[in-house]
Amino acid sequence: MAENYIVSKIIDGDVAEHLSFTDAVAAIHKKKGYTPKYFVQTFGCQQNEADSERLGGMCVAMGYEKTTTPDDADLILVNTCAVREHAEKKALSIIGQYKHIKDRNPGLVIGVGGCMVTQESRADKLRRSYPYVSFTFDTGAIHKVPSLVLGALTGKKRSFILSDEWKINEGLPISRESAHMAWLSIMYGCNNFCSYCIVPYVRGRERSRSAEAIIEEAKQLIAGGARDITLLGQNVNSYNGGDGVDIAELMHKICALPGDFKLRFMTSHPKDASDRLIEAMATEEKIVKHFHLPIQSGSDRILREMNRKYDTASYLEKIAKLKEAVPDVSITSDIIVGFPGETEEDFLGTLDILKKVRYDMVFSFIYSPRNGTPAARMDCQIPREVSSERMGRLLALQDEISNERNQRFLGRTMRVLAEDVSKNDSTMLTGRGDSVRPIHFSADKSMIGQFVDLKIKNVSTYCFEGEILKP
Ligand code: SAH
Ligand code: SF4
Ligand code: F3S
Repeated sequence: MAENYIVSKIIDGDVAEHLSFTDAVAAIHKKKGYTPKYFVQTFGCQQNEADSERLGGMCVAMGYEKTTTPDDADLILVNTCAVREHAEKKALSIIGQYKHIKDRNPGLVIGVGGCMVTQESRADKLRRSYPYVSFTFDTGAIHKVPSLVLGALTGKKRSFILSDEWKINEGLPISRESAHMAWLSIMYGCNNFCSYCIVPYVRGRERSRSAEAIIEEAKQLIAGGARDITLLGQNVNSYNGGDGVDIAELMHKICALPGDFKLRFMTSHPKDASDRLIEAMATEEKIVKHFHLPIQSGSDRILREMNRKYDTASYLEKIAKLKEAVPDVSITSDIIVGFPGETEEDFLGTLDILKKVRYDMVFSFIYSPRNGTPAARMDCQIPREVSSERMGRLLALQDEISNERNQRFLGRTMRVLAEDVSKNDSTMLTGRGDSVRPIHFSADKSMIGQFVDLKIKNVSTYCFEGEILKP
């Protein structure tokens, strides 16, 4: 209903103004003499995980305390993804389940943000079909969450914000999931408009944070115990911090900071992967020897249709340079199977690339049409059975290659950060070092957040087993 529906254009992105709403929400809770709980549900990529840490930070500043289950939450924020249909379906299904919690607790406030609701049609669907959702906020408006929560608590109209500008909002509070492993966003948005991809539409144009702001945050992270820092952006290779500071220069500056830490970066676009970046990886000890360089397809025709702006020959040239400069590098990729018009021959080209590059690991996805992108309007959409069959062959080949690549780590001694308790065995810890596979090893939980020297005792396709070397 129109009276319930506000589509407000964001005119200012002033964090300070919106943080004053934070104080107002905190005052409401204080008056009630009760500490409410928040729950953030995150879908999608590391960018969303980083945004969720900011959502958590704002919740804490509003007087909420974290809970690990939605059932006893007073505020649920869902941070959605739109990259494939499956991601959207999953989010809608979970939001559907929250209705039962709202029925039990009418005071519960539910807000939905992220890439899915940054599409008008999806925000509209939530407004119409999910009446218990109080507000949506898009990826350019996370700093507005305190004002939206205040609105919901004071009985204002439901709000479904659509932003058509994306600014950098420095200074939002952050509640980090881990003290020793940190996301560090260096840029936002994407200008590439690959023909299959929704990201540029839901994350806006590329904008880089200033090198000073990033280095300051890195310093704080290191002082706070961070041992593994990942620089984040949709295409970190095109980082432009002004005054000629590119990604390579930025990484050199961060590596020069005192402290015992490792540096990673995600994601790289092959067209922008520079010699300078490869050289930085080769020369800086703190940079983890892992390069994620998604090729998407091994067919030049499909790469053109995808608007990727490189061909297989120039890609393989970069890979050759990388392997020469960093002989032991781990290389990973993203692959899309079943892009519109993909023939058996195109697909064999992709398998050929896998054989030539010999990736350590590949993230492969069946093409999912995204409304509003050029590829969704292309003829010759590939039937699901064909894509699934191709996917099966790709996975089998990559497993073989991964197995073979993994062997080089057997018997090796590696310095590895104890990242967390192993998911499969709570008596073991896990870390990665320069490998892209988790290495499980027996150690006390108190070691989490410290570097350990491991001897790799066993390697299998998806994980390794290590043993701590006695000092
Ligand atoms: N910026 C990064 C990754 C963005 S999304 C990059 O350019 O590499 C992560 C991966 O999802 C992409 O690399 C691509 O392989 C996959 N992807 C994106 N859109 C997709 C779609 N419509 N269908 C299937 N996979 C998709
Ligand atoms: Fe999507 Fe391409 Fe941008 Fe990556 S580079 S986010 S695949 S448009
Ligand atoms: Fe998904 Fe948005 Fe990331 S669409 S993959 S959460 S940028």
